[in-house]
Amino acid sequence: MQEQARRAARAVDGAGQWDRLARLGAIGAIPGGGVCRLALTAEDMAARRLMLEWAAELDLEPATDAFGNLFLRLPGTRPEAPPVVSGSHLDTQPHGGRFDGAYGVVAALEAVRAMRKAGLTPRRPVDVVAWTNEEGSRFPPGTMGSMVFTGLTDLAHAAAIVDRDGVALGDALPAFLAATPDLPLRPFGTPMAAYVEAHIEQGPVLEAADEQVGVVTGIQGSRWFQVSVRGEDAHAGTTPPALRRDALRQACSMVDALHQVFDNGDDRVRFTVGRFDVDPGSPNTIAGGVDFTIDFRHPESAVIHALSVRVAPTCQGHAGPCGVSVRELRDVPPVSFDLDVIRLIDDMAAGLGYRYRRMNSGAGHDAEHLAHVCPTGMVFVPCRGGRSHTVTEDARPEDLAAGTAVLAASLTALSEAS
Ligand code: HGY
Ligand code: MN
Ligand code: MN
Repeated sequence: MQEQARRAARAVDGAGQWDRLARLGAIGAIPGGGVCRLALTAEDMAARRLMLEWAAELDLEPATDAFGNLFLRLPGTRPEAPPVVSGSHLDTQPHGGRFDGAYGVVAALEAVRAMRKAGLTPRRPVDVVAWTNEEGSRFPPGTMGSMVFTGLTDLAHAAAIVDRDGVALGDALPAFLAATPDLPLRPFGTPMAAYVEAHIEQGPVLEAADEQVGVVTGIQGSRWFQVSVRGEDAHAGTTPPALRRDALRQACSMVDALHQVFDNGDDRVRFTVGRFDVDPGSPNTIAGGVDFTIDFRHPESAVIHALSVRVAPTCQGHAGPCGVSVRELRDVPPVSFDLDVIRLIDDMAAGLGYRYRRMNSGAGHDAEHLAHVCPTGMVFVPCRGGRSHTVTEDARPEDLAAGTAVLAASLTALSEAS
């Protein structure tokens, strides 16, 4: 393990990092210890401003792009060289936790602060990044900022996505960008030498094994669908059964039938209907419309395909007198991270004496897209009970500090690579 990498790791301030996470967690704080900081909201803007405040204290050079992805640069001795990049996201689930996303951004900032404190000037620049709209709760699908940056989707397509209040992303974006004015604007797709993201595991493996660090080998595939069922609003008291076109009844039948299809004995299947919107949603009106979402994940492409092709026919087969349309929102195949980056993170975790393991990620991350444009890896740390996307999400300061020490060492080594 390089001496410089070790110096950067040793300079990590776990207490300072914990304080920053507390300050960030206060933005959009909700009862129960969680956070609601939906993409492009005032809370998301406030979090961005706080990142810029911390960047200024560290003399990092800020920049953004037309989608609001935020970059904070530690200059290197070779300013023209593509940067090593590290970060995650600041937006959260509606009942989110204080660590999902926030930890990766704060850890990257702490790693850069530690590099500075250790008196290191990297050869390559090191960029801290906060990707816009990773969760996709308000504007589905998720990981949109990194998808636009890497060219997997275009700005026009993203701008047309509408939230539940009818606000289009393209109408919310200008105010979000204006909240942090005068930032240099970067084009999408600027070259990167490597990307490493720190994140809580959001699962139970590390905690159960009493290990401090997960060296992530890849991310399972994910498909999202939007199912729209259309019947006819009608009076609950006067409409006889034969004349009903009850969208809620048929949507429930579809969801039940879909669970029969996906509950196929394969314990790796992750099938979730998380959003179920009923229109008009009145106790005494038969529902004329229901929109529900499907989030399906699996580590094997063949299984993802075999089960995904059954979504539309299963819905159609349970539509009864209603109409149904199925729209795909997201199709991200399983991805494997770069073996050299994985080995580097292994070496850093071992060299720093942490208990660690290699593991795949069940959760999605921006790293799943960066992996297609540069050598990419992730560093996981345990979270309490493996719980996430809930206000009870929690992690231990010492585990977060361990992950950041491995991250700082890895970024130092990568930024010295020729
Ligand atoms: O949905 C995910 O896997 C991520 O936590 N947003
Ligand atoms: Mn996340
Ligand atoms: Mn998440």
